[in-house]
Amino acid sequence: MHSPRAQNSWLITNCSEILSLRGKAPKRGHNLSDIGLIRDGAMLVREGRIAAIGPRRRIEALRDARRAHKLDMNGRVVLPGFVDSHTHLIFAASRAAEYEQRIGGATYEQIARADGGIVNSVLRLRKSSSADLKSRARTHLARFAAHGTTTMEAKSGYGLDWESERKILVALRELGNEQPVEIVRTFLGAHVVPPEFRSRADAYVELLCREWIPKVAAENLAEFCDVYCDRGAFTVAQSRRILTAARACGLGLRVHAEQLARTGAARLAVELNAASADHLEKLNAADIRALEKSNVTCTLLPGCCFHLGLAHYGPARKLIDAGAIVGLATDFNPGTSPTLSMPMILSLACTQMRMTPAEAIAAATINAAYSLGRHDRTGSLEVGKFADLAVFDVADYREIPYYFGVNHCWLTMKRGRIIYSRAAQH
Ligand code: NIG
Ligand code: FE
Repeated sequence: MHSPRAQNSWLITNCSEILSLRGKAPKRGHNLSDIGLIRDGAMLVREGRIAAIGPRRRIEALRDARRAHKLDMNGRVVLPGFVDSHTHLIFAASRAAEYEQRIGGATYEQIARADGGIVNSVLRLRKSSSADLKSRARTHLARFAAHGTTTMEAKSGYGLDWESERKILVALRELGNEQPVEIVRTFLGAHVVPPEFRSRADAYVELLCREWIPKVAAENLAEFCDVYCDRGAFTVAQSRRILTAARACGLGLRVHAEQLARTGAARLAVELNAASADHLEKLNAADIRALEKSNVTCTLLPGCCFHLGLAHYGPARKLIDAGAIVGLATDFNPGTSPTLSMPMILSLACTQMRMTPAEAIAAATINAAYSLGRHDRTGSLEVGKFADLAVFDVADYREIPYYFGVNHCWLTMKRGRIIYSRAAQH
């Protein structure tokens, strides 16, 4: 694709707008739209970190600026690299046939009950080699970078036996070491009850709590543990048991909550002080009150509603106006959201959930970084933080969601290294 240039310092200049996202993190309420806009801006990057950022004239006058390699942005827009805080990166095959079945009228849950859905993906993954899974994931990772993503969370959850779950988490670790997009690993052994434990769900929960979660922690296979707490998956009581066991082993907590049915999963996330509660389409008013003062990031995944053709998106406006921490992510997965494009997620957030472009960008960068415990080093462009950034070939940041469905990402940089460049494609 390109040869990453081993440059120690860059002067990134002539940016019509830099969205710094500076200031207190996470951003809540009206602060969510405070994106720290710098017009006619420039930035100095040294040893992978931001050394200076501000108006072009001031930055260009710095002594170090003259020695740096100049990247002229010709009036483009620069923002922090997207932090995609919810993905299921490793899967064996698409589920395009189910997509067509749903278009014909079958629902996601009907397909799942007939052993399509997650179980379909599990059976395929168990038969796939680690080499094949990694090779598919590498293609996806390059595309994530080409859409401006520099950090992502990735879950296991299509293995659901120990060897297969471990295979996924080890593959993620290896991918994280061999390519530049940073991968934060999450154990999702509690995705659904696997076929061999059907009608013995509690026995599976015990296996997770007594054996697999301690092994995940001991082998440092994941930083977070997630549970799909929903109708057709795990109950609130089972989820509480699993998440409590994970917390006792030192794992951070994430929850798939209130997607298909309102179960009380979001309240559980607050009770256990989870890092993130994700989906939230079926939240009620009392749930919002519980979330609004908590430190749980409410991660909305509008790609799911779009792909499943559902009209009812998550209550972004109510959550923002209540002061909750709102994040956005792709939920990249073969069943409900086969997109890896954060710009597309921004378009859906703006048009379908009435977030402003500024709010959507803050949710997809600094707040998502907060939900992964990485807001001290990424998610905003501030002196001392990693030079993780995306450049878009537009002159006004609102055009990023506005031009939906077409990728306008021009350049992506991770820790000061160019990991994608549109210019290098020609
Ligand atoms: O986040 N809802 C649970 N997990 C995924 C869907 C996984 C699948 O259908 O393969 C989600 O939507
Ligand atoms: Fe998911």
